[in-house]
Amino acid sequence: MADAFDLVVIGSGPGGYVAAIRAAQLGLKVAVVEKWPTLGGTCLNIGCIPSKALLHASEMFEEAGHGFKALGIDIPNPGLNLPQMMKHKSETVASNVGGVDYLFKKNKITTLRGIGSIAAPGKVLVTPQSGPTQEVATKNIIIASGSVAATLPGIQIDEKQIVTSTGALTLDKVPAKLVVIGAGVIGLELGSVWARLGSQVTVVEYLDRILPGMDSEVARQFQRMLQKQGMEFKLSTKVSAIEKTENGGLKLKVEAAKGGETEVLDADVALVAIGRKPYTDGLGLDIVGVALDERGRVRVDAQYRTSVEGVYAIGDVIAGPMLAHKAEDEGIAVAEILVGQAGHVNYAAMPAVVYTNPEIASVGKTEDELKAEGIDYKIGKFPFTANGRAKAMLATQGFVKILADVETDRVLGAHIVGKNAGEMIHELVVLMEFSGAAEDLARTTHAHPTLSEAVREASLSLGDGAIHI
Ligand code: FAD
Ligand code: NAI
Repeated sequence: MADAFDLVVIGSGPGGYVAAIRAAQLGLKVAVVEKWPTLGGTCLNIGCIPSKALLHASEMFEEAGHGFKALGIDIPNPGLNLPQMMKHKSETVASNVGGVDYLFKKNKITTLRGIGSIAAPGKVLVTPQSGPTQEVATKNIIIASGSVAATLPGIQIDEKQIVTSTGALTLDKVPAKLVVIGAGVIGLELGSVWARLGSQVTVVEYLDRILPGMDSEVARQFQRMLQKQGMEFKLSTKVSAIEKTENGGLKLKVEAAKGGETEVLDADVALVAIGRKPYTDGLGLDIVGVALDERGRVRVDAQYRTSVEGVYAIGDVIAGPMLAHKAEDEGIAVAEILVGQAGHVNYAAMPAVVYTNPEIASVGKTEDELKAEGIDYKIGKFPFTANGRAKAMLATQGFVKILADVETDRVLGAHIVGKNAGEMIHELVVLMEFSGAAEDLARTTHAHPTLSEAVREASLSLGDGAIHI
């Protein structure tokens, strides 16, 4: 048997690699098992990082085509060099996954290549693509095996024409017609990428709204903004079948979610973006007795302990939002718990960002949740049309919405639609982390002229009133 480790992490995504680094920093002897050729998991290889590279590049393309004119910059017909854009994406991924390699070496973390499975508490088997299976002894194990795209029954994903996010990040030409199934985060982000590059995008969503879980006022207004950008929506609708046609296209059979009316949509590419499911294949969890919940997620307690002693789980494979930063923070928490510290994640102050244009950022409760919970709340709102910097940047779409407790003034949630919303949200995250009140924010000086002044103005409107409206 190979050398004994204090910790073996299965999976090198944001959950696994961050847990490994923190555990090594805290003095543990750590190994990470990864079945893919590169480290970094879904997020760095086929998720957050490549999607943001394409979102940025496609936004610049769109700006050059339409936005620059009003600023006095004439660029006649900017051309699209898709192979170069994809090269930028691949280089961004390579640089990030290489960064994890570097950090592992720096922190003396052993990388074990192959499929990891748990043979028994304290015993991990690593099966490489070729060569013998290695047995590794360890005091503790973290399962950080992540998630994979959910698929629709009867619809065969080929990652060329009928794609998940993975295929949608590597298309070799711009589809004339793209149908996106699911108006969630992936559908709207990757739908935006291809719409900006020239696709006619139709989004088919089962529910009667986009972005379920987000504040419904935000979702409603954001849908209008996307429609203005040319995206079409078919809500309360589902795709029941996809057929490949003789001329190389697709025909999607679409029907009302409740059944009844049917319609056929033509498309060149269909993107299935209906959610992701926890990935536990090959881990041997049934053999060792690690319990799953009703949705196939690894069941953990508040200290991320599974039903088997010495085996922990974090990230997309357990309950909670499937977000990279959630996985990272759980990784840090488990590492701290392993050395006897009080590792903890504050899920009440967990931001979520949709990286479209404008961006959507949110933290804490939505108005819908406060209503449902019967909490007495007040709303502070400020539009970017009244913000000087937004006017200078021609970025006046959107608003800041802050929800605070009527009695205590404590901020319970915040939602921003606007340029750079994903950066601005963090002052509200910090405020909520410290259980701050709207007045704390209202009395904090903000530099002028910045978009962030709209955040302060929204909090001022919860007191004696915003200044600039
Ligand atoms: P993963 O990142 O899925 O990593 C799991 C790793 O475990 C993989 O490398 C896998 O190969 C490995 N593995 C699994 N089983 C085994 C085994 N038995 N043996 C060895 N290795 C194994 N989140 C955000 O917060 N922001 C974003 O902008 C964002 N964008 C996204 C865009 C897309 C297109 C997608 C698909 C997701 C996006 N996400 C984003 C979600 C984010 O990628 C996930 O929440 C995050 O990657 C979860 O991290 P994880 O460590 O739990 O698992
Ligand atoms: P999602 O859960 O965000 O959205 C899926 C959408 O598909 C929902 O609106 C749902 O109602 C709809 N849907 C489900 N079944 C359907 C059907 N049969 N027909 C039509 N619509 C249907 O899932 P998505 O977009 O696939 O993303 C997966 C995960 O990845 C999310 O949980 C998200 O947290 C994470 N992610 C995060 C990003 C970010 O933080 N910016 C970016 C991309 C992904």
